[in-house]
Amino acid sequence: MNITLIGAGNLATQLGLALQEKGHRFVQVFSRTAESAEALAFLLGAEAVTRPELVRPGADLYICALKDDALSDVLSGIQVGNALMVHTAGSVPMDVLSVCTSDYGVIYPLQTFSKGRKVEFRSIPFYIEAARLESLQVIQALVADLSDTVRVVDSEHRKYIHLAAVFASNFVNYLYAISGDILQEQQLSFDDMLPLIDEVARKVHTMMPSKAQTGPAVRYDQQVMGKQLALLQNHPEWAQLYELLSKGIHKQATDKAASTNN
Ligand SMILES: NC(=O)c1ccc[n+]([C@@H]2O[C@H](COP(=O)([O-])OP(=O)(O)OC[C@H]3O[C@@H](n4cnc5c(N)ncnc54)[C@H](OP(=O)(O)O)[C@@H]3O)[C@@H](O)[C@H]2O)c1
Repeated sequence: MNITLIGAGNLATQLGLALQEKGHRFVQVFSRTAESAEALAFLLGAEAVTRPELVRPGADLYICALKDDALSDVLSGIQVGNALMVHTAGSVPMDVLSVCTSDYGVIYPLQTFSKGRKVEFRSIPFYIEAARLESLQVIQALVADLSDTVRVVDSEHRKYIHLAAVFASNFVNYLYAISGDILQEQQLSFDDMLPLIDEVARKVHTMMPSKAQTGPAVRYDQQVMGKQLALLQNHPEWAQLYELLSKGIHKQATDKAASTNN
């Protein structure tokens, strides 16, 4: 297919490169800054544009991968006739694209993407949706070439998948960052955390996360928790998080135990 990318960030870069490997051609890459647009356009052999009105009609598919808050503004400046256009967002309804075209859909990949890091696409679940059946089939064929898991999911359910992903990925990653900062303050290395992080992630492939939980909060070791809170006295935000998460872990464990006993 001849594809134009609206957006040149983390996802646009990795999705663009993966589609290029499958033989698709890129016509234009739009981004608000020349730096982003040109960097990705160079990789994909496409024309870089930085103004919405310079996005040309005529491509087979337009993929919008922008900061969600900027989507409506950028779209209002793009005119591509009734071309097929998709966005890649978890929490944005499909019909946000109706300002540009009546032929629209969604390709939402459930993975974390960064510009400089290649990911294995075959195992990524893709959630797709389209306003027209023929377009759904086009999107399905395109994505099935990249991934073994393609699911048709409406905008209403997709936003819950995104919400769950924020807990499973973004929040967990934020906690890694705090863990790293705590160690760095003591001139200790984060590297030794990696086997633990890997095992926690592996364990939930075969055990329910609530069953896999260990540590002072699930055991309700109050003395240890008190001592750890005291270590966080110079970091009130981390102490707040520590208390909130420990209460949540303890409550989840006692609720589960109560429901098993009933
Ligand atoms: N990254 C992921 O892991 C991931 C996973 C699944 C879905 N998604 C979805 O993919 C979409 C893009 O995410 P991303 O992580 O690739 O974002 P990103 O790396 O931050 O890239 C955002 C793009 O939006 C542009 N942009 C940012 N602020 C803007 C503004 N105020 N006005 C106009 N353009 C603006 C950026 O332009 P400049 O670079 O030129 O500033 C860039 O082209 C989002 O809908 C997201 O939900 C992302």
